[in-house]
Amino acid sequence: EMLEKGGFDHFMLKEIYEQPRSIKDCMRGRIYPAEGKVQLGGIKEFAEKLKNIDRIIIVACGTSWHAGLVGEYLIEEYARIPVEVEYASEFRYRNPIITEKDVVIAISQSGETADTMAAIEMAKERGATIFGICNVAGASIPRLTHAGVYTHAGPEIGVASTKAFTAQVTVLTLMAFYMAQQKGTITTSKLIELLTELDNIPEKIQIALESNDIIKEVAEKIKDATNCLFLGRGSGFPVALEGALKLKEISYIHAEGYPAAEMKHGPIALIDEEMPVVFIATQNSSYEKVISNIQEVKARKGKVIAIVTQGDTEVKKMADYCIEIPDANEAFLPLLATIPLQLLAYHIAVMRGCNVDQPRNLAKSVTVE
Ligand code: AGP
Repeated sequence: EMLEKGGFDHFMLKEIYEQPRSIKDCMRGRIYPAEGKVQLGGIKEFAEKLKNIDRIIIVACGTSWHAGLVGEYLIEEYARIPVEVEYASEFRYRNPIITEKDVVIAISQSGETADTMAAIEMAKERGATIFGICNVAGASIPRLTHAGVYTHAGPEIGVASTKAFTAQVTVLTLMAFYMAQQKGTITTSKLIELLTELDNIPEKIQIALESNDIIKEVAEKIKDATNCLFLGRGSGFPVALEGALKLKEISYIHAEGYPAAEMKHGPIALIDEEMPVVFIATQNSSYEKVISNIQEVKARKGKVIAIVTQGDTEVKKMADYCIEIPDANEAFLPLLATIPLQLLAYHIAVMRGCNVDQPRNLAKSVTVE
């Protein structure tokens, strides 16, 4: 087993460190930065249909659902197609409106999640076209869908999903650009610019991983917390949700992800000197707003841990701890900002003596409804 872990103490840590590689594998043969072109062989036969779809419904569970929320942001931004993101388990027990014109994207690392499979079956019966985003070749979900794109992240052993999540987000980014290309909502020069930067994201993830020692220090400071809040805006919100899920899954600390602006509508009541609040405070369109949210937390003596862009000076004046990630176009920030949150959850769980790779009560794939 030591060999399989490649010298790392846990599979989860190994998988976190594999991300520069797994994202590269995920993009291989699919992006052509010099030409400003995305090719997704798996959904090619639906290229024409994509020009005229009215709506996309994304169905998934857990971490895959968080990836779906990032996808919503990207598809709406670039392809200008309305997207709904549904918990597969809720979707299937409603009587949702689905038509033949809809495309349903089912996201699943394992490809065996019972709720996601049931949602696919229902959408299929109602005539929708189903795309899958899956990590396990030949699993049940890829067999149920009409077409799909594999994430190619390699086997994920840790129960808490890490590299599969960033690969799902990468595929959704590629899908957003592909759909934009098909619909003509993006120019070739813009695509050249975005794909050139995307091509460089694995290197930037490598740099984000280098904050490991600082993250360990932060983990030491907050490891005894009983609650923790994760806040972000825009595509930083699903990142906050994912950071909170990672922490609760493996450290058993109660954590909640919230849109930063919603804090004042309730969760602000929880803040006192015992409460660590993790902010996604990178320099993007909501930066100024997040700064005022940080001030609100500091005014109530909360402990602020901020994920910031390298070279940030504003947040550093206010936050108790800052963790830097490289700057990037807003479209790619979820990929980078997730890395320190995975490491933070990992170190806290190890310090608390938890079984990181096999947390209590959880299974790698949830095959019951
Ligand atoms: C992630 O850390 C979880 N263990 C869990 O939420 C998982 O993402 C969910 O069960 C969905 O699994 P799937 O991607 O294999 O369908």
